[in-house]
Amino acid sequence: MNKISLSAFSDKYKDILEKELKKNVEKLVAPNNLKDSMLYSLNAGGKRIRPLLLFATLQAYGKDPLKGLLAATAIEMIHTYSLIHDDLPSMDDDDLRRGLPTNHKVYGEATAILAGDALLTYSFQIMTNMNQQHIPADRILTTINLLAKAAGAEGMVGGQVADIEGENKALNQQELEHIHLHKTGKLLEVSIIIGAILAEATSSEIKKLQQFSYHLGLAFQIRDDILDLEGDEALIGKPIGSDMDNHKSTYPKILTMDGAKRELDQHIRQAKDQLIGLHLDSAILEEITDLIAYRNN
Ligand code: IPE
Ligand code: IPE
Ligand code: MG
Ligand code: MG
Ligand code: MG
Repeated sequence: MNKISLSAFSDKYKDILEKELKKNVEKLVAPNNLKDSMLYSLNAGGKRIRPLLLFATLQAYGKDPLKGLLAATAIEMIHTYSLIHDDLPSMDDDDLRRGLPTNHKVYGEATAILAGDALLTYSFQIMTNMNQQHIPADRILTTINLLAKAAGAEGMVGGQVADIEGENKALNQQELEHIHLHKTGKLLEVSIIIGAILAEATSSEIKKLQQFSYHLGLAFQIRDDILDLEGDEALIGKPIGSDMDNHKSTYPKILTMDGAKRELDQHIRQAKDQLIGLHLDSAILEEITDLIAYRNN
């Protein structure tokens, strides 16, 4: 396969994904205000890390990344819904997201909640459309099951609840790791694992990819915690200091800033070790790993 740089890969597949997101919402027969609110957050220009991980996993197996287009669309919708709800006054109460006023600031709380609900439910409808891509039904069922689990009470939602329950408490590193792995890690992991399932990976490869995802998920949220303290608001497009205002436990708070950065480096090294052990064409996945670790937004 021809070598492609991460920036060319990312430009190409982000563009296709963004068109797919837009197309799917525009065709809904639903109140315009709801569709506008859904599109507002989807179009606000996130990094699209989860879709890129899914596409890059297929690429690592020499498969067409677009085999994962519908799954990537569904995952980005779930991620966007989670951000709309995460920013609500009853949760992190943030006014800025992806460089724009948060959804509830523009559309009001009721519509923001409902836009999140609509994105979540629509994502599963889109997953069922994978049968139009000649993907066997049993494989589609497996991916839907994994996505539901990763997004729900045993995954991201459970992590968000643990994160809220941890406010105003001095958590230890193990408790914080549990929160990070669920609120952030599960959706990243399932992006990679769905890519692997669509690529017909073996179960031992999936186990290694889960180990890779474990380290990547922790690294991702450690970087998020670091950026919340020392990021540039203009670059990250969300407010600095939100964690402090909400009395959250974070890696820098528990380990100091230097300790958090060392922990991040260690997880990135271990993530890459897992990838190397897989002997795939994983150059793009490795580059995304570095991007996650050392991003400024
Ligand atoms: C932010 O996720 C929320 C977390 C899970 C930490 P991203 O950093 O991927 O947000 P966008 O999609 O690029 O805006
Ligand atoms: C939220 O974590 C993760 C999810 C939305 C599931 P954060 O609250 O740290 O995310 P940001 O910093 O607001 O993006
Ligand atoms: Mg939060
Ligand atoms: Mg938040
Ligand atoms: Mg954060």
